[in-house]
Amino acid sequence: MVDLKSGQCVAIPTETVYGLAADATNGEAVARIFEMKERPTFNPLICHVNGVEMASRYGELNSIALLLAETFWPGPLTIVVPLLESSGISSLVTAGLDSIGLRHPKGISSDLIALFGKPLAAPSANKSGRISPTTAEHVKSEFENEELVIIDNGPCDVGLESTIVKVDDHSITMLRPGAVTADMIAEVTNISPTYPKSKKIEAPGMMQSHYAPDAKVILNFKERNTLDPAYAWLQFGPDCKEEDTKALNLSRNGDLIEAAANLYGMLKELDAAGPSTICVSPIPETGIGVAINDRLRRAAAPRESH
Ligand code: TXA
Ligand code: MG
Repeated sequence: MVDLKSGQCVAIPTETVYGLAADATNGEAVARIFEMKERPTFNPLICHVNGVEMASRYGELNSIALLLAETFWPGPLTIVVPLLESSGISSLVTAGLDSIGLRHPKGISSDLIALFGKPLAAPSANKSGRISPTTAEHVKSEFENEELVIIDNGPCDVGLESTIVKVDDHSITMLRPGAVTADMIAEVTNISPTYPKSKKIEAPGMMQSHYAPDAKVILNFKERNTLDPAYAWLQFGPDCKEEDTKALNLSRNGDLIEAAANLYGMLKELDAAGPSTICVSPIPETGIGVAINDRLRRAAAPRESH
């Protein structure tokens, strides 16, 4: 069906979002991922492994990285560490950097990697800059015109991309917030993660415009009486009443984990109705709410870097 050995790509389910995967040691296979995603080649890919043992063949995991891997893997945490010289990973994967992003995903993709015996490079299975897919149907509609085998494992549990941290000798830098929060990391390591100071692209998933629907996005929307009929509304919490305008609620109970799992699917559904603008209710900046707000800010950012 899929021949990873000969460099084919396959869409894989993970607990975060669906990925577009191929053999990370095969430059042609990796080039195909960039081509299908229309992704700029300066933006490195995450390598998916099936545990610490495989990770250690490609990256240099210090004691902090090992502790994080042992605590949070398999799970939604990507750890950026120095790349081993002998790694054999295609330099397209790392975009020529001397570091590598490693993640052990949960579920059947981990089994697939174990069977293959090598890491799979896999960005989210969407065209560059667009909303990440959380169902096999999303992947299908993103790559309508391409031939692509999709392993369908239903909707993703988490619904937001993994947390990315860069680990140094004594510090941890948070490159992308996700379900594994800064507090969870600090509790395990006794190190408070810092945030990158420069605007330099360390994780280009941090590009300002990303995860963008076609409609314009307005955040922290509260003035429900002034909602234009051409607008759609992405709500959060119990005190939202659905109006004439197309509205969906991320979580009526105000549950941030449920909201994260619904975010991309609901954004896509509202966008498909063709509104000029999607208004989003305020989302609390706690726990996984930090990651939800991070993605929403990028969805709302000016669009020049699609
Ligand atoms: O949850 C996820 O992480 C999903 C699933 C499929 O695993 N993958 C994902 O991949 O979100 P992608 O390519 O959409 O985002 C990967 C991010 C990019 O922002 C990239 O810049 C960053 O990881 N990254 C990868 N390698 C890196 C490295 N060596 N240094 C810094 N950032 C890196
Ligand atoms: Mg992505």
